[in-house]
Amino acid sequence: MRVVSVFGTRPEAIKMAPVIKELENSPHIESIICSTGQHREMLSPVLKIFDIKPDHDLDILVPGQSLNSLFSRTLAKMSDLYADLAPDRVLVHGDTTTAGAAALAAFHNNISVGHVEAGLRTHNMNEPWPEELNRRLVDLMADQLYAPTQGAKNNLLSEHLGERQIIVTGNTVIDALLFIRDKLAHDDEFATTIANGFPQLDPSKKLILVTGHRRESFGEGFRQFALALRDIASMPNVQLIYPVHLNPNVQTPVREILSGLDNVFLIAPLDYPAFVYLMNRATLIISDSGGIQEEAPSLGKLVLVTRNVTERPEAVEAGTVELVGTDRERIVDRCLHYLREPELLNHISKAKNPYGDGKAAQRIVKEITK
Ligand code: UD1
Ligand code: UDP
Repeated sequence: MRVVSVFGTRPEAIKMAPVIKELENSPHIESIICSTGQHREMLSPVLKIFDIKPDHDLDILVPGQSLNSLFSRTLAKMSDLYADLAPDRVLVHGDTTTAGAAALAAFHNNISVGHVEAGLRTHNMNEPWPEELNRRLVDLMADQLYAPTQGAKNNLLSEHLGERQIIVTGNTVIDALLFIRDKLAHDDEFATTIANGFPQLDPSKKLILVTGHRRESFGEGFRQFALALRDIASMPNVQLIYPVHLNPNVQTPVREILSGLDNVFLIAPLDYPAFVYLMNRATLIISDSGGIQEEAPSLGKLVLVTRNVTERPEAVEAGTVELVGTDRERIVDRCLHYLREPELLNHISKAKNPYGDGKAAQRIVKEITK
């Protein structure tokens, strides 16, 4: 069976890596790897650490790319690639433009689609935007739906998709995270090199790790978020480290508002092991990332999520995610609340991870080869 695995952005590569490794181990599958290149600098370190070499790289990234140009270029190039490869199945991940366009190109060519991380919903088309639509589109086009949780499966059933093959797999991000955590635990030299990569951090201060990139927050949302971070940085004994997403809509407000503060470290996006190291080291995390909401329960960390809704309710139930929106006062208020209550953070550190046991990729490949 010829299977083409498609990814384009950093989180898709992290979460598809375990699936690709598993496909490569299967004697029943000819595995072909395709990167759309929706991301470039942010993607290459992921490929390096998981030792993944795309057979095809469509190299579509354009600085400041619009959704329509990105979608149409991906659709056209994927369609040509499928014509050349004639795959039996295409695998896409999640809710990105890469996933939406690669699945649609397959659907138009009557190629079976498997959807990794199917069924997550906010039930709000505007948040995350445009990802809620992408994920629903892919679920409609796929014949195999790999839902990370029972809740995600229930969402699919409530949309009358029960005639498809739906399996609950756990989230492949846990497979990837455990791989890195083991490497950090067993390879002292590797772990020491990473730890030595942050000489600017003061071990006596509380560490807040920050990320942010959602399109629906561009403009005023990002200004409020950055101003909140500036307020938090004015408190004693805290330091913030923020690998800033390369999108110019993020870089500009963040650098305007946060540059020049001696306890705010604005750095380039990190490779995955260094980011996992920082998540482990952080007192708490402030982020709008989807993947980080899933990783946090495994690491026992609180994430203040700068969004109004989440498609990861399991993390809210586990107590490791609290939605704080993009209101400056609310972000500051909730952050200071937790910083003043180490007991609360200690309680959260014992949370149970609802996103799987690290065997999601095995379950997915078993389903494909059944
Ligand atoms: C995309 C996904 C989002 C995902 C996020 C992960 C869509 C619509 N959005 O958003 O779901 O959560 O990736 O990070 O698919 N850039 C670079 N180099 C890179 C990556 C980005 O320069 O390696 C800059 C470019 O100017 C690019 C811009 O960032 O045009 C935006 O990238 P894009 O992939 O369109 O959107 P993201 O916000 O990254
Ligand atoms: N991540 C990383 N380096 C960074 C920031 C994040 O490797 O500098 C990882 C993070 O651990 C998670 C994924 O990237 O696995 C999340 O990516 P992002 O926030 O860009 O996308 P989302 O998950 O929101 O789609």
